[in-house]
Amino acid sequence: MASSPIPATMKAWTYSRPGPHRKILELKKVPTPPLPTGSQLLFKVAFAGIDPSNTNVMKILPSLLVRKNAIPGNEFSGTIMARGPDAPSHFKVGCKVLCVTPSNVILRGRGPFCEYICLDSKTCAIALVPEGLTMEEASCIGQCGMMAMLIHKHGKLHQGNGYRILVNGASGGCGSMFVQAAVALGAKEVVGVCSAPNAEFVLGLGASKIIDYRANAPLHEYLAKEYQTRPFDFVLDTIGAQVLYTKSPGYLKEEGAFLNIGSYAHGMLWTLLYAMLNMFRPWWLGGTPRKFVIFSPQPEKECMVRLMNLVREGKIKVHIEKVFAFEELCDALDLGDTKRVRGKMVLTVGGD
Ligand SMILES: NC(=O)c1ccc[n+]([C@@H]2O[C@H](COP(=O)([O-])OP(=O)(O)OC[C@H]3O[C@@H](n4cnc5c(N)ncnc54)[C@H](OP(=O)(O)O)[C@@H]3O)[C@@H](O)[C@H]2O)c1
Repeated sequence: MASSPIPATMKAWTYSRPGPHRKILELKKVPTPPLPTGSQLLFKVAFAGIDPSNTNVMKILPSLLVRKNAIPGNEFSGTIMARGPDAPSHFKVGCKVLCVTPSNVILRGRGPFCEYICLDSKTCAIALVPEGLTMEEASCIGQCGMMAMLIHKHGKLHQGNGYRILVNGASGGCGSMFVQAAVALGAKEVVGVCSAPNAEFVLGLGASKIIDYRANAPLHEYLAKEYQTRPFDFVLDTIGAQVLYTKSPGYLKEEGAFLNIGSYAHGMLWTLLYAMLNMFRPWWLGGTPRKFVIFSPQPEKECMVRLMNLVREGKIKVHIEKVFAFEELCDALDLGDTKRVRGKMVLTVGGD
């Protein structure tokens, strides 16, 4: 069932080979996805969140896996235009929703940097946009917000534990969401690592203290000096500093855990290599005697529900650094690659 006529073609950012975004992305007219079947939903995209992983995926996918006219992106807000007969009944035509796509959608190049997108409601994390959240905010709160929920669930950072945590990269999209989630979900102390210009921002998110990583370099030495006698229960690294893990016995409890969200500064190969080493190398072969956990971005419906509850309670907000016009996607991705973005960036697709 469709609400209004869907055009046969739509504008989309596409790529058909791997590489740096400026070399491979093209703004094109492509066929609009077919009407939904089964549990699928067809959305008109309003805004799409921009994530550092967007450029990484385009760079690292092997040529053989890149489809013709692949469309990047992994989260968005929009309106349901049509629904398959088996889609959940609360997702009605005309509803305003936000959605985080699973990694197979990203790998198949069926992302939301385009006007219409058809997705299976079974595999995506979709929520009705809560009152008080703008469509811009809704487009970019899901991915990092859900990651914060996933870390709490699978990292066993349980409510009431009163744990103490260090967040490296506290001013970024994931870090800023995580600081708020940790405060809301019962952390006793959240220490954020950021630069001096972002100190007020991170303290405003609820961090009890900030550490300026530039004034206190090298960070691991500063941490060992300050926190050796009262080490953290958890360290969350959103930046991907291997030395922060290898030196963590100086400031992380023996029974604590070092959490990483799948980022290492030198790219995907190093991320995989470090993750393998950190997880499996025993201390007697030179490994670091602290638990290492790496998280991958799988949408979990339960985490989306918990996130939306916190958003409704006003405990999690998203800071948008900049909203870009649809034609400005490459400029947005350039800015993301600088690693200097505070909070999130948004791409306008169809708008409100
Ligand atoms: N696993 C997942 O589900 C998932 C989801 C989303 C993102 N990710 C990955 O997580 C990583 C983080 O993404 P993000 O969106 O949070 O944003 P990001 O672009 O990595 O973070 C930018 C922020 O980090 C700060 N920063 C830069 N260098 C720093 C350093 N050495 N120490 C401390 N802070 C520093 C910057 O502030 P200053 O300029 O002030 O330093 C800026 O505010 C990316 O690699 C992304 O691909 C994973």
